Amino acid sequence: MDFLALGGTCVGAVARHIELFSRMRLQLNRAWEANAGQSRIGSRPYSPAASLHAHKKISMHSNTLGAYPMTFDLHALLDERRGDKFALFERHLNPQMLRVLRTLGFDVDYVHAEGPYLFDREDRPYLDLLSGFGVFALGRNHPTVIGALEQVLRSRLPGLVQLDVSLLAGILAERLLARMPWLDKAFFCNSGAEAVEAAIKFSRAATGRSKLLYCEHGFHGLTYGALSLCGDEPFRERFGPFVGECATVPFNDLPALERALATRDVAAFVVEPVQGKGVNLPADGYLAEAARLCRRHGTLLVADEIQCGMGRTGRFLACEHFGVEPDMVLLAKALSGGFVPVGAVLMRGAIFDRVYNRMERAFVHGSTFSKNDLAMAAGLATLAAFDEERLIERAAAVGEQLISGLSARLSGSELVKEVRGKGMMIAIELGPPRDFKLKAAYSLVERADKGLFCQLILIPLLTQHRILAQVAGHAMPVIKLLPPFVISDDDRLWIENAFAQVVGDSQSLAGMWNLGRTLAGHALRERAGSA
Ligand SMILES: Cc1ncc(COP(=O)(O)O)c(C=O)c1O
Repeated sequence: MDFLALGGTCVGAVARHIELFSRMRLQLNRAWEANAGQSRIGSRPYSPAASLHAHKKISMHSNTLGAYPMTFDLHALLDERRGDKFALFERHLNPQMLRVLRTLGFDVDYVHAEGPYLFDREDRPYLDLLSGFGVFALGRNHPTVIGALEQVLRSRLPGLVQLDVSLLAGILAERLLARMPWLDKAFFCNSGAEAVEAAIKFSRAATGRSKLLYCEHGFHGLTYGALSLCGDEPFRERFGPFVGECATVPFNDLPALERALATRDVAAFVVEPVQGKGVNLPADGYLAEAARLCRRHGTLLVADEIQCGMGRTGRFLACEHFGVEPDMVLLAKALSGGFVPVGAVLMRGAIFDRVYNRMERAFVHGSTFSKNDLAMAAGLATLAAFDEERLIERAAAVGEQLISGLSARLSGSELVKEVRGKGMMIAIELGPPRDFKLKAAYSLVERADKGLFCQLILIPLLTQHRILAQVAGHAMPVIKLLPPFVISDDDRLWIENAFAQVVGDSQSLAGMWNLGRTLAGHALRERAGSA
C-alpha cells in the first residue's frame, strides 16, 4: 500500500482548501513585496492629522494584510531559526515534553499544515487524528476562517473598547443560541476551562447552593475550578487543596446521582454527554433521566460539550442524540476555527439574570479579551463553513463508516475488545489476548505502565503509516481518534488499512518485543539528546 500516494490523493474540499490557501499566500507575499520599499512612519514627528492621512493612504493601497511597512518579517525569522525548534522548546519551555516526544519517536519536524494533514520537511503528509485535542474540526487553515480573520484585520474594527458592546459577539451569540432554542443568553471567554469556571460561578450564584457534582473519569480543564471537577487523579496530584464541596458520582449510575441530588444542596451537575477520557458513551436513557432528576431536585444540568460538541458526534450538540436540553451548554475548542482561542457558555435567561441582576453587577464576571473580534469572527466563520460544506452531516456519515470499517477490520483481533464512538469521536479499546504466551507478554507491558500497550499501536501508526493519534487518557488501554470532519474517503481507507496492519503486527511476540526495542532505542536517543 502506497500511503504517500493515498495521502496525496486528497480530493474535493481538501484540494480546494489547498488551492485557495496557496492563492492567498501568493497575494500576501505580493503585498509584502510591494510594501518592502515604503518608508517608515516612525521617524517623523507625531501629528494626529498626518497619522490619519498616512493610515488612509496605506489602506487605500493595501489589498490584504501587508498595509504597513515591513519592520518584522515572520517568514525570515522562521527560516533563520527553523533548526532551533526543539532546542528552544527544551531550554525555555518544557523539556519533559521533549523527552516524551523523543521516547515515543514523535519528534517529527512538521513545517506546514493543510486540512487534515501535517507536512514534514520532506513535504510528506501525516494524517492528524489528534486534531489539536479536538480543535481542528474544520481541518487546519480553512480558507473561510482565514478569509474572515483577514477581513477583521483589514477592517480596522474598534474591538475591545470595553465601554462599548461588540456587534460580532451579538451575532455569534444569536447564531449559537439559534442552534439551542431553549437557551437565551451567551457568555464568551477564552478557553474551555474558563467556560467551566464561569459555569461554576453562575450555577452557585443562580441557585444559592454551593455543592457541585461531576462524574468519575470526567475531564473539564486544568484551572482550579475545572480541576476540582476532574475525575482523573494524575492531573490533581500535588495541586490540592481544591475548590470546596465538589463530589463525584460514577458516570451512567442513576441511583448514585439520585442519592447525591436528594440532599438538595447541589448547584450543578457538570457532565460531558460523551466523556472525552476513554470515549465513554452514556447508557440508554441516562442523560434524559439525569436531566429529570436535576430538575426535580433544583440542580442545574451543565453539559460540557467542549470536546464532544460543535458537530464532533454528528449533531451540533452531543446531547441532541439523547433528547436532553441542559440548563447550560459549554463550548470551546472547534469554535475557534483552529485559530483564535474562544469559549462560550450558553444558558437559560433566568441563570444569567441571577448573576447580572443589578446595574452595578454588569461587570461582575468577565475577561479582558473575551468577545475580541478575531475570536468572534473565527466562531462565525466556523459556523458558516459547517453549513456551507454540510460538515456536521459529513462527520455523522464518515464517522459511522469509519466505526463500522474499523470494527469489521479489527473484529478478528485478539487484542481489540471494542470499537465504539459517535461520529468523529472514536475509541479502540484493547485488552489482554486469549493466547497464553501473548497474554503473559501483554500483562508484562501493562504492568510496566498501564496503557503502555497502546503505544504498540500508536508508534508504528505514526512512524510507518504517518497517522497521528493518542491514548484516550491516563492508564487506560484505549486509543482515541478525533478526525477532522474534512477527511476524504481515501483518508478513511488509509486509517482502516493502517490499523488493520499495526494491530495485526502487534499481536505477536515479535511485535511486543519490537515495542520494547523501539521504546528502549528512543529512550537511549532521548538520553543522548538531552545529555
Ligand atoms: C470536555 C472538556 N472540557 C474542558 C476542557 C478544557 O478546555 P481548555 O483546554 O480549552 O481549557 C477540555 C479540554 O480538553 C475538555 O475536553
